[in-house]
Amino acid sequence: MRIGFFDSGIGGLTVLAEALRRLPDKDFLYMADTLHVPYGTKAEEDVKAYIFDTVGMMMYEGIDALVVACNTATSIAINELRERYSLPIVGMEPAVKPAVEMNRATGKRVLVFATPLTLQLPKYYALVSRVDDMGIVDSLPLPELVHYCESLQFDKAVMNEYFLSKLAGYDLNDYGIIVLGCTHYPFYKEILRELLPPHIEIVDGNVGTVKRLSALLNRYGIAGGGGNGDVRFMCSGHEPAYIDKMQRALAFLRERDALTETLPT
Ligand code: DGL
Repeated sequence: MRIGFFDSGIGGLTVLAEALRRLPDKDFLYMADTLHVPYGTKAEEDVKAYIFDTVGMMMYEGIDALVVACNTATSIAINELRERYSLPIVGMEPAVKPAVEMNRATGKRVLVFATPLTLQLPKYYALVSRVDDMGIVDSLPLPELVHYCESLQFDKAVMNEYFLSKLAGYDLNDYGIIVLGCTHYPFYKEILRELLPPHIEIVDGNVGTVKRLSALLNRYGIAGGGGNGDVRFMCSGHEPAYIDKMQRALAFLRERDALTETLPT
């Protein structure tokens, strides 16, 4: 049993790290479309073609389930992927629904960080129209952040300056939650935690996605393990240096998550 995880780059590793915690008896194939990263600032039709090429390569390698560990790719192609392939497929969407529920009592606003493409696609508009009955959701595209992440730019001073410039127009007292609506962004969780006022919660969709994966494997009757958390890495550009980068990035995430003693619910 091997589960495929797919993203434009290293972002989906934040989801894979959560899957390794919760589903340690599975094996994984992680694929990054390094030839085309980033997706979030490109044209929808181009990105759609990249997604189908990349998923096609993963199918050729052999996977039993697919996690589209990328909000942008999910918005563009999840329905067509499900039409084309019969294996279980899990996608991601910004965690706007739980965020609105969490803020229902206080009435504080929700700020969603995501790629420009995710925020401009109909799927996001439909999601917000469906769940934002109080009109409290605002959206902020962060077109540069995936580039920073892919270049492993985690210098606190540089990133603080970037986030502060993006947040300059917002009164953070009005906000209760920031949603990380791109799988690259949780790499900046600590930096954001230190930077943002303590009353603001930072949420992402990673735990929810792995829970949905687990439920789907059960539904398909393929929840049995047989693996041992083995991860094979691939990238469309076939760069050995990038494979090494993915291994190091995953090790960093797993060490960081190990510091959180209990599994987040
Ligand atoms: N990590 C992806 C997402 O969740 C895509 C980022 C990008 O390539 O722009 O949206």
